[in-house]
Amino acid sequence: MKHKLAIIGFGTVGQGFCEILLQKKEYLKKKYDFEWSVVAVADFAYGNVYNENGLDVEEMVGLAQKKEKFVKDAVDWETLELIERCNADTVCELTFTDLKTGGPAVDHVKTALASGKSVVTSNKGPAALMYPEMKKLADEQGVKFMIEGTVVAGTPIVNLAEGPLAGCEISKIRGILNGTTNYILSEMEKGLPYEEVLKSAQELGYAEADPTGDVEGYDARGKVTILANVVMGAELDIEDVACQGITKITPDDIKFAKEQGKRWKLIGSVENKDGKVTGSVAPEMVDLSHPLAGIMGATNALTFTTDLLGDVTIVGPGAGRIETGFSILTDVLAIGKR
Ligand code: HSE
Repeated sequence: MKHKLAIIGFGTVGQGFCEILLQKKEYLKKKYDFEWSVVAVADFAYGNVYNENGLDVEEMVGLAQKKEKFVKDAVDWETLELIERCNADTVCELTFTDLKTGGPAVDHVKTALASGKSVVTSNKGPAALMYPEMKKLADEQGVKFMIEGTVVAGTPIVNLAEGPLAGCEISKIRGILNGTTNYILSEMEKGLPYEEVLKSAQELGYAEADPTGDVEGYDARGKVTILANVVMGAELDIEDVACQGITKITPDDIKFAKEQGKRWKLIGSVENKDGKVTGSVAPEMVDLSHPLAGIMGATNALTFTTDLLGDVTIVGPGAGRIETGFSILTDVLAIGKR
């Protein structure tokens, strides 16, 4: 049986995910007995399309790369109507993140879950602002709400905590959760000015559309909230997480840290002390001997402090077309296996 997918948002992540599906079509079938068809795509730039027997994904990726609108299988249904009416088993919500309101993504996710479809998303909005509500709705409907791609792209953080680390009690999660700021701090250490480095982070595609979210720590705060609520079972509001970014760090501060044998890192942290979960984001001077000090550029790293294994650290990419596309694949495959 083919797993039927709807893709909402056909930007960097949506196209990256489709490229992986196309490239690995035979491999996925052979290795996991997983067959797919994309039945619906909605995108404000390219239009909404639907074919219950499967769309021509290769052609659509080609059109999007040329910035041309979809023509074949075009429908005049609004996105929510498309989500509700399509015959997809799983809706992949891949639109832009809005950490203030949750953006249209919240309505997309609610509509999909309410119509009995599982949701896989890399959008931090619904996950950071209303995970408990979405999870409850998914449970009531007997479907899944899966969010691996919301924290550190495809590097398995949520799945690691819920899968291989299951049985360990996790008392702390701490690390580098934002690639843009880690890249900026790494480059500033080479003597490059902040403004220039921020510009190249945007050109390299690490930064969010509005990079304020990265440099002020809001992106990392969204991820900390997700970790607190999903991995630690808390019910934190994003505003409960204390947040400070890197905008006040000067070249002198960087020099000072170096003289002390330290390095600035923007550290996101979640801690469970006697059942009380707290979260924070703030720049810290980390000793050069500490594993997190060696994480440079746009790479992310997280250490889980556990009762049975002590510290477990995972290092990997936290952004990117294919890297985030992979996070969608891994959750879709998990649903497919069920
Ligand atoms: N802008 C984010 C980062 C991308 O720099 O880590 C993924 O959330």
